Amino acid sequence: EKGGYEHFMLKEIFEQPRSIRDCMRGRIYPEEGKVQLGGIKDYTEKFKNADRIIIVACGTSWHAGLVGEYLIEEYARIPVEVEYASEFRYRNPIISEKDIVIAISQSGETADTMAAIELAKERGATIFGVCNVVGASIPRLTHAGVYTHAGPEIGVASTKAFTAQVTVLTLMAFYMAQTKGTITQSKLISLLIELEKIPDLIERTLLSNDYILGIAEKFKDSRNALFLGRGSGFPVALEGALKLKEISYIHAEGYPAAEMKHGPIALIDEEMPVVVIATKTSSYEKVISNIQEVKARKGVVIAIVTEGDTEVKNMADYVIEIPHADEAFLPLLATIPLQLLSYHIAVLRGCNVDQPRNLAKSVTVE
Ligand code: F6R
Repeated sequence: EKGGYEHFMLKEIFEQPRSIRDCMRGRIYPEEGKVQLGGIKDYTEKFKNADRIIIVACGTSWHAGLVGEYLIEEYARIPVEVEYASEFRYRNPIISEKDIVIAISQSGETADTMAAIELAKERGATIFGVCNVVGASIPRLTHAGVYTHAGPEIGVASTKAFTAQVTVLTLMAFYMAQTKGTITQSKLISLLIELEKIPDLIERTLLSNDYILGIAEKFKDSRNALFLGRGSGFPVALEGALKLKEISYIHAEGYPAAEMKHGPIALIDEEMPVVVIATKTSSYEKVISNIQEVKARKGVVIAIVTEGDTEVKNMADYVIEIPHADEAFLPLLATIPLQLLSYHIAVLRGCNVDQPRNLAKSVTVE
């Protein structure tokens, strides 16, 4: 059942080229520059007229929501707010019939996310679901939605469900951009051609598995770790930190790289591994300065870089390369090595990676 892998988590990490292909199947037509999402096609006008979108979710699904915020604002130019479902539901939030709420949940059973949906529905918002489990409670509560089709996820730590959520949100952002006319047809064509190749690039990224195991051996006894990123690399950093803490029990924090100087930089010494998303994006130069700040305080830098990078390589203690891709697809690629790093560190520490202590796969209590 584990398909020859030692754990479900590793199997599910390696399944991602396939799960993302499944998620995109029948939904993108690159040559025509077309995104087709059957589940939400009756709501085109709603998206066209939306003043804002509120995304509600918990945990890893909330991180996917943050990636969605970058993509929807960048391409569809609709303001997005991303809320923890548990905070949103108890805050007497301001919502009206004009609002669109997107609820993201792998299991489709998360109690706080369900309550957030019910509240928004009562106040007249239109609710879309992004769920993995077909026919679960959340898809039944929403007006419409888009399934992630990642297949069953057994490992408690979300891996392939996260990248499928990000894929769906990418498709939704492109779909909204297309209906609103905020993207040119030629730009959409080139993005979709690239998106279609992302599963192959993930396959290539997975080839670093043994190399990442080598890095994990160096950091298995760490007590803390920092994860830094900018732009859509920031939610990737948050997700990397969550993966590490939940399965290896190492204390880890994700931060926007520029926030470091406002506090967390005080933590840095030669004992502190700092994982930095330092790929060639619009924030590359800024991230390089942040790496210099860490190195000046003797922090140990593990950088995720674009293939062929030389500048970061000269400064970082360890680098993990990922293939070059449009900035829109960075989260899909940069997440993979972080999943593998957490997995190997947890296994080396003798942790039960598929069933970490105190955690449940679906959180049906608030
Ligand atoms: C972390 C993880 C959790 C879930 C969260 C929400 O790896 O799996 O943080 O993401 O409990 O669950 P869903 O997506 O089922 O609503």
